[in-house]
Amino acid sequence: MQNKLKKLQKEIIDSLGKVKDLKALRELEIKYLGRKGELTKFLRGIAKLKEEEKKSIGKLANDIKNKLQDKFNKIKEDLSDTDTKGSYVDVTLPGKKIKQGHLHPITIIQNELEDLFKAMGFMILNGPELESDYYNFEALNIPKYHPARDTQDTFFIEPHPDLLLTKERGKREAESDLVMRTHTSPMQIRAMQKYGAPLRCVVPGRVFRHEATDASHDNTFYQLEGLMIDKDISVSSLISVMKEMLSGILKLDAEIRVRPGYFPFVEPGLEVDVKCTICGGEGCPSCKHSGWTEMIGSGMVHPKVLEYGGIDPHEFSGFAFGMGIDRLVMMRYGINDIRLFYGGDLRFLSQF
Ligand code: DAH
Repeated sequence: MQNKLKKLQKEIIDSLGKVKDLKALRELEIKYLGRKGELTKFLRGIAKLKEEEKKSIGKLANDIKNKLQDKFNKIKEDLSDTDTKGSYVDVTLPGKKIKQGHLHPITIIQNELEDLFKAMGFMILNGPELESDYYNFEALNIPKYHPARDTQDTFFIEPHPDLLLTKERGKREAESDLVMRTHTSPMQIRAMQKYGAPLRCVVPGRVFRHEATDASHDNTFYQLEGLMIDKDISVSSLISVMKEMLSGILKLDAEIRVRPGYFPFVEPGLEVDVKCTICGGEGCPSCKHSGWTEMIGSGMVHPKVLEYGGIDPHEFSGFAFGMGIDRLVMMRYGINDIRLFYGGDLRFLSQF
């Protein structure tokens, strides 16, 4: 009997040693000391013993029960203490600052560009990054055999069988390959087909080239395409809009110059340069000592391209331009490596 009692006592003390929280303690208390608890049952059993045994065991059992109850109470107190400590909130302490993200520098400048063009009455459009060969090249007057394709080598994608079957895409498009768009210019055709003339729109977006990367080239970058079609649009309209845009974004009265340039979808084609913002035109390494920085490809929309867009070239004329947003951001913030934009390095990104 005595041994059984001692064994039970040891078992309870061992279990108490492992208790970590109030819930577990309460469970133990019910298991051993509760109304139907094991120790309680043991104590009840003493009543049935013979008188002598009753005395010695009874006293021992009571002592043990009291000691154990004290132990339970003590542990309960300790656990209650730590529990309150854990959940205690000092509302007078200053709050922890949560690091907030912010816009990527390219997005910042893209938003500014959109605002500038909205103020001039242009729509902002988005186009697909996975484009058909037809819109990316053909309809922009770059047929399959044309050498201009070599300058825009890109990632060709096997068309999904479902895409080939989409009727409304038209037979010509459905039959052609898919490419990761090499420029935002295909949206010129899509916009003309959808909205007709007169039309003013800009298209910011991501473009892709099969390119060896270096400080000024990456396989993925951003462009802003622009298109304005109306009656009597001329090169002077183009020049004034380009000057307005560059002045607005570079935050100065931008001096620009226009040179002939070749792009199959415009005639005449023009390159727009801006006076170097670093040396002010004196010549420095960043403008290759010319005093000018090449910024924009542009020109008067080729009559064939207007026709591809469903617009009569005898009635309407227009200008188009395309510009790398990355380069503009690099100029604005003095960044010397395009790869920083896509590296995800917070030491770089958190500076904006
Ligand atoms: N799409 C050309 C490129 O990526 C840039 C360009 C040139 C766009 C002339 C135009 C344009 O709209 O008229 O190199």
